[in-house]
Amino acid sequence: MAQIGVGQWGKNLLRNFAELAELRWICDLDDARLQQFAPRYPSARATTSIDDVLDDDELDAVVVATPVPTHYELAKRVLDAGKHVFVEKPPAMRGAEMEELCELAEDRGLVLMPGHLLLYHPGVQKLKALVDTGELGEVLCIYGNRQNLGTIRMHENALWSLGVHDLSVVLYLLDEEPSEVVAHGNAFLTPGVEDVVFCYLRFPSGRIAHMHLSWLDPHKMRKITVVGREKMAVFDDMELEHKVTVYDKAPEQPTRTHGEWQTRTGAKFSPEIPNTEPLRLECEHFLALVRGEGDAQRAARDGLVVVRALEQLQASLETVVA
Ligand SMILES: NC(=O)c1ccc[n+]([C@@H]2O[C@H](COP(=O)([O-])OP(=O)(O)OC[C@H]3O[C@@H](n4cnc5c(N)ncnc54)[C@H](O)[C@@H]3O)[C@@H](O)[C@H]2O)c1
Repeated sequence: MAQIGVGQWGKNLLRNFAELAELRWICDLDDARLQQFAPRYPSARATTSIDDVLDDDELDAVVVATPVPTHYELAKRVLDAGKHVFVEKPPAMRGAEMEELCELAEDRGLVLMPGHLLLYHPGVQKLKALVDTGELGEVLCIYGNRQNLGTIRMHENALWSLGVHDLSVVLYLLDEEPSEVVAHGNAFLTPGVEDVVFCYLRFPSGRIAHMHLSWLDPHKMRKITVVGREKMAVFDDMELEHKVTVYDKAPEQPTRTHGEWQTRTGAKFSPEIPNTEPLRLECEHFLALVRGEGDAQRAARDGLVVVRALEQLQASLETVVA
């Protein structure tokens, strides 16, 4: 395989893929970056030209870890060259572009996998199992908190930089596309780049979701809360050990109260979560898909629903109410 883009995040992907597969090429437009990494991966050739990479007939798969606006064009070129592709999130900035990539991959029988890291987090996998097995009862609402006084981006707003993570989890847990999305936010620090964004999503089933995304906040929060009719669950990535907590609490209408609502508060417990690195699991999943194991179309479709929702949320964000 090959990797295009070896920046701040790309180097983590590179480390994992180099351990799991045969790394043939490292490609980056920045020659200094290449020189930094080339000695660490002597089996790989270094190049600033993507053509060198795509012309290699021995190559099966390419990882794209470049800035977001370049993803669609690069992924398209990789698929056109007949290679499987892993693209960092989000693989495109428009739904129509992502649809085109999905169709291209499907027509050619190639894997197109978006880098939705959180979907490989054992804590999120646990939430998914709690939802799918019906342990929580009917899921009513989900909300995500991704806040911090953190890295202040000047090109990408909080929706695209932070929201893509929570959105991928919400859509994965509910397995449904929203019928209504609304986003409100404001750019306080850099004109045109929203630092604080509140998103609301409503689904055809009636379930609702909310996301608070901000790098202008006193709390460092990385949390997803799922409210079910029978139980409630929280995935808190700031917790070192108890990443998932299940609360056996819910409203109920006992017959003796003749229809009046009461609340039941039972025990809370933290299921055991494996301590495996999500990035490692993500890379292994891509390689399994390349080998023909697993549902490659599901991976591409997960990416498509996220890009569509992001595009609609961005349009809503730009609609300023007078
Ligand atoms: N999954 C996660 O948790 C996570 C975290 C951080 C970043 N990311 C994603 O990873 C991607 C890369 O982020 P980063 O922080 O490494 O960015 P970066 O700016 O540090 O690195 C990007 C690299 O790509 C190179 N590059 C740019 N255009 C190129 C091209 N056309 N061909 C070849 N190389 C090119 C640049 O020279 C640079 O070295 C982004 O899409 C970002 O959204 C994901």
